Amino acid sequence: RNLKRQMPCRVDIDRLNTPFIAIYESLIPPEEEKAKQKQLLTLLQRLVTKEWPEGRLFLYGSCANSFGVSRSDIDVCLAIGDANINKSDVLLKLADILQSDNLQDVQALARARVPIVKLMDPVTGISCDICINNVLAVVNTKLLRDYAQIDERLRQLAYIVKHWAKSRGVNETYRGTLSSYAYVIMCIYFLQQRRPAILPCLQEMEITYSVTVDNIECKFYDQVEKLRKFGSRNKETIAQLVWGFFNYWAYRHDYANDVISIRTGSVISKREKDWTRRIGNDRHLICIEDPFEISHDLGRVVDKYSIKVLREEFERAAHIMQDSPHPCESLFEPY
Ligand code: GTP
Ligand code: MG
Repeated sequence: RNLKRQMPCRVDIDRLNTPFIAIYESLIPPEEEKAKQKQLLTLLQRLVTKEWPEGRLFLYGSCANSFGVSRSDIDVCLAIGDANINKSDVLLKLADILQSDNLQDVQALARARVPIVKLMDPVTGISCDICINNVLAVVNTKLLRDYAQIDERLRQLAYIVKHWAKSRGVNETYRGTLSSYAYVIMCIYFLQQRRPAILPCLQEMEITYSVTVDNIECKFYDQVEKLRKFGSRNKETIAQLVWGFFNYWAYRHDYANDVISIRTGSVISKREKDWTRRIGNDRHLICIEDPFEISHDLGRVVDKYSIKVLREEFERAAHIMQDSPHPCESLFEPY
């Protein structure tokens, strides 16, 4: 491993920019999808308002964080100010209302880890999950979207990493690999670490946005339109960054001791967070701090078997980026 740690990037790396950009562009959803999502959201808001006049719907997840591919399901949060409501009651009531308005495949999953109502809208063809009062997800969605506006290379890198993870079967939390949310955080962290940096650390800057959700203060700098030039001193191209990302996770990350943290824009030690041993089901084999729920390790789902799978995939990708004559083909080969 140490030998590879020193490895310089292949000399013909920039030959890969055009194909990577082409893949990125093919994954971006067309504008009319946004319009359809809005249309569905308006319909749902009208139904919700009749029953809960104070209830507000928010999009979160990939349909709102600017890292969503074409034809994804949309994630919606119903925010009801009252914290004392019984979520299952609301969920069942909501399912009833939606059903009687001709929405299809309506299903209330009241016992799931995050309880949701699922539905499909026959008019727009969009499938949608609605959860209740999961406002933290709405706020972390905004953080990701704000980061994406600072430098286009984040969106490019994250689309390619997500596409790789889905193709290789390592984007399945129920099987012990990482969520899309975790991969985007890993990309943000990686770009914060470049020298010169490509992304700043928004949570360490002057506070221009602040909300308290579930007793957690979420605050950061959000006037990102003023940061459009932030990364311009760094001239690295997308192909170099994809190479560097996989090289980092294959050979350079210290899995035994380090936690990555976009909140601080730096690495934190596992010891400092007391993430050195298994507690319950949290094994901390790859440590990714949530930007707001800082006791939350997004790598907690990874177990002693899936960490091997994951690290072998990082090494495979690093190897392909270094040596393969056609990395854009082999990288995304179905597993
Ligand atoms: P795809 O659907 O795979 O394209 O990605 P996605 O961006 O929708 O990501 P994902 O399904 O992983 O998560 C959806 C949203 O739920 C994220 O944007 C977060 O807002 C939230 N979320 C997911 N996992 C976590 C988690 O472990 N902790 C917290 N706090 N929020 C999470
Ligand atoms: Mg999603």
